[in-house]
Amino acid sequence: MEDFKKVKPVLFNILGNDFNPQVSPVKFFDSPLTEEPTGLFTIFHPLHPTIYDFVKLQKQRLWKADEYPIDRTREQFDQLDEIDRRVFEYTLSFLAFLDSVQVANISDIEIVYNMPEYKIWGATHKYFEVEHSIAYSNILYGLFNQNSEEVKRIFYLAKDHPELRRRNELIAGNYQKLFDILWEGLKNVSREEYARTLTYVFAGTYAMEAVTFYMGFKTIEFYQYKYGVLPMTNKMISEIKADELFHVKVMATIIRTLKPYITRYISEAEFDDIVVSTLKSYAQADLQFYQSILAQNNFGITQKQIENYIKFLTDRRLKLLGYPPIYGVDENPFEEIDRLYGYLESHVNEGKKEAFFETKSSAYVTAELDEKVLENWKF
Ligand SMILES: [Fe+2]
Ligand SMILES: [Fe+2]
Repeated sequence: MEDFKKVKPVLFNILGNDFNPQVSPVKFFDSPLTEEPTGLFTIFHPLHPTIYDFVKLQKQRLWKADEYPIDRTREQFDQLDEIDRRVFEYTLSFLAFLDSVQVANISDIEIVYNMPEYKIWGATHKYFEVEHSIAYSNILYGLFNQNSEEVKRIFYLAKDHPELRRRNELIAGNYQKLFDILWEGLKNVSREEYARTLTYVFAGTYAMEAVTFYMGFKTIEFYQYKYGVLPMTNKMISEIKADELFHVKVMATIIRTLKPYITRYISEAEFDDIVVSTLKSYAQADLQFYQSILAQNNFGITQKQIENYIKFLTDRRLKLLGYPPIYGVDENPFEEIDRLYGYLESHVNEGKKEAFFETKSSAYVTAELDEKVLENWKF
């Protein structure tokens, strides 16, 4: 730690070179200025062009939550059984929390990104997560517009319900480390600790994008699938899911790209262990949550299905990063719902393309775009 002589980050670095392949995607504050960018913002010839391609693709999916129809029919919600209503409330509160914590932490990640293509990705990513947060607010206010106390109660389940709070604190705690480091300044942190913290933050972001959201999505899809209720809510969820699939692919790419830079400071074994254990701890928190809130009550979806879905998804997402499975579940218990509503792994809904396009709100997304994603990134 004593030998860690940091170079102060420079806003306009006249010694810098934006085309130097030594430049790291994230800032490590001991890099010589000659291996740092100049600060002149250019996207000409990006060092990691894949990241910029993802930005272009994501921007083509531009949609606005405010312009979206929402379910205003409280009666539809009231048709649900008590357990269904409760699960729906928890789901909305949790999804709202997840996007809120992302909006907050992406700002920190944007600070540590070092290359223009990554910075643009950070800004684009944040824009879409803000849009998702607006969507959840609109869903809540649309459904409960007669009663703002009710909206507040559901929104605050995120902190007031002990099981939800426990799950949310685990996720927030992961990002808090980077927040603390940036707040206190990098002077007091070793490069190992910084590298470790970055690994946790990127692994946590990936775990959220890739696993944590999905039982929530599944719940809302299930209500439409089973009861035909809340169709507008489900349409908005469908837009969000398609965005999240980009995020899964981008974050997987970023983690793989960052690995050689981060493992200059911590061992490869430690890096792998942080990534895998973070995914596992998020999956376990999901499992624990559903076990505790549902107890013996099933809401049409059984405990076993939930457990297998979370485990199935965790294994698939680990594979995307090049890691072996930890649960060994290779059957998707919601195969049929996923085929119907799509976007679990592909932007093209195999075998049922019409259903895929029917659920789109706009002409922004073209088949070309989706095929390009598949062509370029064989995940
Ligand atoms: Fe999101
Ligand atoms: Fe996301």
